[in-house]
Amino acid sequence: MTKSGQLWGGRFAEKPHETFAEFNDSFKFDRRLFAADVRASIAHANGLYDARVIMYKESRAIVEGLQVLLESASSHDLWDGADAEDVHSFIEMKLIEMIGDVGRKLHTGRSRNDQVATAFRLWLRDETDTISAFIRDLQSELVNLADRHKDAILPGYTHLQRAQPVMFAHWCLAYFEMLRRDSERLFDARRRINIMPLGSGALAGTGFAIDRDAVAAELGFERISANSLDAVSDRDFAVEFTSACSLIMVHLSRLAEDLILYCSTEFGFVTLSDAVSSGSSLMPQKKNPDALELLRGKAGRVFGHNMSLLAMLKGLPLAYNKDMQEDKQAVFDTVDTVQICLRAAAIVIENATVNEEKTLAAATSGYLNATELADYLVKKGIPFRTAHETVGRIVLFAMEQGKELDELTIEALREFLPEIDEDVFNALSIESTLAAKNTLGGTSPERVANALSAAKEYLEK
Ligand code: ARG
Repeated sequence: MTKSGQLWGGRFAEKPHETFAEFNDSFKFDRRLFAADVRASIAHANGLYDARVIMYKESRAIVEGLQVLLESASSHDLWDGADAEDVHSFIEMKLIEMIGDVGRKLHTGRSRNDQVATAFRLWLRDETDTISAFIRDLQSELVNLADRHKDAILPGYTHLQRAQPVMFAHWCLAYFEMLRRDSERLFDARRRINIMPLGSGALAGTGFAIDRDAVAAELGFERISANSLDAVSDRDFAVEFTSACSLIMVHLSRLAEDLILYCSTEFGFVTLSDAVSSGSSLMPQKKNPDALELLRGKAGRVFGHNMSLLAMLKGLPLAYNKDMQEDKQAVFDTVDTVQICLRAAAIVIENATVNEEKTLAAATSGYLNATELADYLVKKGIPFRTAHETVGRIVLFAMEQGKELDELTIEALREFLPEIDEDVFNALSIESTLAAKNTLGGTSPERVANALSAAKEYLEK
């Protein structure tokens, strides 16, 4: 080895140009794969011994050296002034420095091409599990928020116009469902992350009889890759991962946007904690929902990473190409962004309060019970289309009077349709409006209470 950690000096008469090295080297960012790569190297060394490619004593020296390296990862001594082409070169160089020439046997039967794919998958598998745990934490905060405001009623919107009243808990559980799908998608992506490419060599496989299944079992991989050419050039798993993360961010950005509106003076539905808001350097009265705006804003970053991976892979000839080194920063930043966003969303929700009088007032004004009146007429035998049109006219009339539907007199209502009885006022109440939505998935208090219990059961599993 010439330059620190350079693995391929033999064929070269000249040293890499400084600028090329700066351009080519990935060590500044791929050092994040250190622990994963050491773990995979340990399993590889065990595999080499099991295949009797190296002797027992040699495998012990290598494995013990790697374990020492792993333990030293938290110390500055390992990293201060460290330089290498990439993390794989760095680990091998450090091992050889520590245990001498026997360390030069570690790279037998593998290439950095199968090595990097293996370390990357191992690392991403664990980060995916962390993201799944953060999703669950956010789901539990949504359930807690629903519990704290069990009876709160919210105007539901379409086109951002008041539409029909819903239970506030129903809104919370809508986001719970989105996050449930996000978890499922991550879980599914994880199945294809958790496949071991090691043993594929540079592209053709390896000439040593390594038991790939045993190595995979040691690393907790569920399966091994079936084709060496594919295995070293497959980054589908990274695309699937960033795609699943993009949808998480879509959901977080919608949650954020709802709350940004709800905490504005114009809505006044929700109060955010000071702990997740910030002030203005100029306007003393301001309390801004920065946490939520960042959730909304950071979504675009993750979509960009998903797109950059697709663009990087498009049209690449088989098998490994250096283009693929570009996968790291896209995935690393996706992981960092999604994790902090999920954590931030959880604290926003944990510290939010609903101003129940305001949401109720908004849910009981603006004719959100007009559909109820139409449904009432249908139950009196009037075809829905006729009912819809009649109620439209009643709404227009009420608007002219400056009244809500339930403030009109029975006489005034009967002018429109004689079928209307006194029981209409009961039908138009907020309680009846909500209770009527009692099909599965609807917003009746009974259904929502059941959905909330089901959500809690899901979280306990
Ligand atoms: N650092 C490279 C990457 O991240 C792995 C090394 C493979 N390089 C090579 N020249 N075969 O993709």
